[in-house]
Amino acid sequence: MKIAIIGAGYVGLTTGVCLANLGHQVTVHDANRERLDALLAGHLPIYEPGLAEAFDQARCNGSFRISLSVDQCVPDAAAVFLAVGTPARQDGSVDTRQLQAAARQIAPHLKSGAVVVVKSTVSVGTGKVLRRHIAQQRGSMDFAIGSNPEFLREGSALNDFMCPDRIVVGADDDEALEVLTEIYQSLVAQGVPLLETSIENAEMIKHAANAFLALKIGFINEVADFCELVGADVTAIARGIGLDGRIGSAFLTAGPGFGGSCFPKDTRAFAAAGRQAGAPQALVETLIQRNERRQVDLAERVCRELKDRSPVVAMLGLSFKAQTDDIRESPAITIGRILLDHGIRLRVHDPRAMANASLVLDEIECCRTPYEAARGADATVVITEWPDYAALDLTRLRRQMRGRHLFDFRNLIDPLAAARSSLTYHGVGRGSMLPQTAIVPSTLPTRLSDEVAMAKAART
Ligand code: NAD
Ligand code: UDX
Repeated sequence: MKIAIIGAGYVGLTTGVCLANLGHQVTVHDANRERLDALLAGHLPIYEPGLAEAFDQARCNGSFRISLSVDQCVPDAAAVFLAVGTPARQDGSVDTRQLQAAARQIAPHLKSGAVVVVKSTVSVGTGKVLRRHIAQQRGSMDFAIGSNPEFLREGSALNDFMCPDRIVVGADDDEALEVLTEIYQSLVAQGVPLLETSIENAEMIKHAANAFLALKIGFINEVADFCELVGADVTAIARGIGLDGRIGSAFLTAGPGFGGSCFPKDTRAFAAAGRQAGAPQALVETLIQRNERRQVDLAERVCRELKDRSPVVAMLGLSFKAQTDDIRESPAITIGRILLDHGIRLRVHDPRAMANASLVLDEIECCRTPYEAARGADATVVITEWPDYAALDLTRLRRQMRGRHLFDFRNLIDPLAAARSSLTYHGVGRGSMLPQTAIVPSTLPTRLSDEVAMAKAART
C-alpha cells in the first residue's frame, strides 16, 4: 500500500521504516528542512538502536523515500499518517497546533477515499475535530479519519513496533478500518492481536495506558521511600509483588521518577481532559505532583551530603532512560539544574546524550568516561540505567573521587561491592543491605527463611 507519513521524529521515522520493511511503499515528509536534508543524505537525526540499519535496508530496497513537500507524497497515498508532535500547553492539555497545521497542509492533496491516520498521541475527541478541520479546508468529506495510537518505547522502538503486545485501530467507517487492518496484516498473521474500535476509544486507550504505566512507577517509588524507613529493599518488594500475574513485573523499577517525551505530558493531558470533562482523575493528578516532587527530593538528598565549600558532583547519565539520546523531561536534567542552582560544579557523562544536554545545561563539563567525570568529585550520582554504569570498576571510580558518596538512583550497583570500595552507598528504597531476593526454582517448596539463607550464601 502507498503510505505517506507526516513527521519524521522518533515515531514517524520508526513507523515509516518499519512499514516499508513490512512491504509498503512509504514516503516521509517533515516540516523541518534540516531534518529532511540529513535524511536525504542518509543520516538519521535521532539515535535509536537498530534504526540506522533498518533505514538503510528500506532505502536500498526502494520502499522508503523522503519527500520535500506534501504535494509530492500525499496525492497517491491510500493512508496518510500524522506523526507530528503534540506537546503540552500550560494547563496540561494537548497543544494540537502541529496536527492542525499538518491537517491543513495535506487537506487539498488527499486523494478521494484516503484515510488520515492520527498516530500522534491526542486527547479523546481530537480525531473528530480534525475531520471537520480537513473537510473545511477541502470542501468535501470524501476521506476518512482513523486513530492508530503508538505504544513504542524509545530505546526499543523497532522491536516494540514489529512485535507489539497489540495494535489498536479506531475508525468510524468500515472502509477506513479495512485500510488500517490491511496495513498491519503481516503482523496480525504472526499472531499480534489487533483491536478494532471507535476513534474515541482508541484515543482514550493510549492516554489511559500511559497513565496506568506511570501509576505503577509512581507507586513503586512511594514504596521505595517507605522501604528506606523500615529497613526493606524495594527491589525485593517489586519482585515479590510482580510475580503475581495480576500485577505483573513490568514498570515496577524504582528510580528518579518517570521522564521522557510521553509520560509526563500524557499524564498531564489525561488529567486535564478529565477535569475538562468533569471527571477529575485524582490518582493521576497526585501522581504528577509526586513525580515532580521526587526529582527535587533526590536532588536535595545529594546537596545535604555535600559539605565542601565548592562541591563537585559527577553525574552519570543524562538521557531520560538508557538506549536513547532523548533528554526531554529527563530527571537528570531537572536534578542537574537544581544542583547547578546550588552552586555545585557538574561533571557529566552519558554515552549518547551529552550533545543534547549541553544545549540545555550550558555549565556542565562533559567527560569522555565515567571515571573522568568522577575526577575530584565529592559525590557520584548515577541517574540513567546505562548498562556500563552497572559494570563500573568501583575501586577505580573511588580513586578518582575526592569524596566517597555514591548515589545510585537506579539501583544498578551492588551496595556491598560499593562498601568494599570504600564508597558510601545511597540507593533508592534500599533500606536493607541484603542482596536482592534470591529466585528459587518454582518446583521447590520455598519459605521466606530459605530465601534469606540463600541470599546470605550468595553474599559469602
Ligand atoms: P518528535 O518531536 O520527535 O517528531 C515530530 C516531528 O514532526 C518533528 O520532526 C517536526 O519537525 C515534525 N513536524 C511538526 N509539525 C509538522 C508539520 N506541520 N508537517 C510536517 N512535519 C511536522 O516527536 P515524536 O517523539 O516522534 O512524537 C510524535 C507523536 O507521537 C507525539 O504525539 C507523541 O506523543 C507520540 N508518541 C511518541 C512516542 C515516543 O516514544 N517518542 C511514543 C508513542 C507516541
Ligand atoms: C513510553 C511508553 O512506555 C510507550 O508506550 C509510549 O508509547 C511512549 O512513552 P518511553 O517514554 O520511550 O515510552 O519510555 P518508558 O520505557 O516507558 O519509560 C518512561 C519513563 O519511566 C523513563 O523515565 C523510565 O526511566 C521510567 N521508568 C520506566 C521507571 O522509572 N521505572 C520503570 O519500571 C519503567
